[in-house]
Amino acid sequence: MYKTLDIENFLSDDLIQKTETRVYEASKDKTDLIDEWGVWKGKHVTTQHWVPKNQLNYVFSEIIDKLHDVLEQPFVIDQAQILQSHLAYDIHSDYFVQVDRVADELIRKPYYTLIIPLADFNSHTVVFNESAEYNAFYKYKENNPQLLDHISDEDWSKYCSHCWSDDQKYLTLDQVCRWQKGKLIGFDRHKFHCSDNFTEKIERKEAFVLWLGGK
Ligand SMILES: [Fe+2]
Repeated sequence: MYKTLDIENFLSDDLIQKTETRVYEASKDKTDLIDEWGVWKGKHVTTQHWVPKNQLNYVFSEIIDKLHDVLEQPFVIDQAQILQSHLAYDIHSDYFVQVDRVADELIRKPYYTLIIPLADFNSHTVVFNESAEYNAFYKYKENNPQLLDHISDEDWSKYCSHCWSDDQKYLTLDQVCRWQKGKLIGFDRHKFHCSDNFTEKIERKEAFVLWLGGK
């Protein structure tokens, strides 16, 4: 598993602004995720502004340069977007990138999911140690035993109050990463993760999200 990244001041305000403009200029596909089966059943969870694959290297050129200083392995961007999150994602992995609920064909080995918040938000991404070669956590629960040393009640109620309560028994905490402007948050795409339940504190949060594949 690749180590979780939580690097402050990765991207300057200027480069956030410049990249944000480029994303909106390039983006043609906007998708709205309405929760079908999960904890927010029937509600609008996120809006996602996708950058066409043939423009990824142009739109994120400065970010790619900076990532070469941080990441150990060669990579390509499989997909990227501006995420506007209205409700908190519950537990999943990003093994497959899902565009409007359809899994992208896996051409390369999944590497990192990267999150760069566009402003300071009173919210966190919660990364767990458990991992899989599929996205759905219900599948993981079917195939793995409950743990005695699972994430504590305190952390669970602090960060995961929106998740199915049964999930707690299968998970241990890797890292909790606060959403600060220009920070680089990164985790292995195999790892299960979720948002904290920010909806009690803020209306929405926004970030660049990039999914990397290995070369
Ligand atoms: Fe994710």
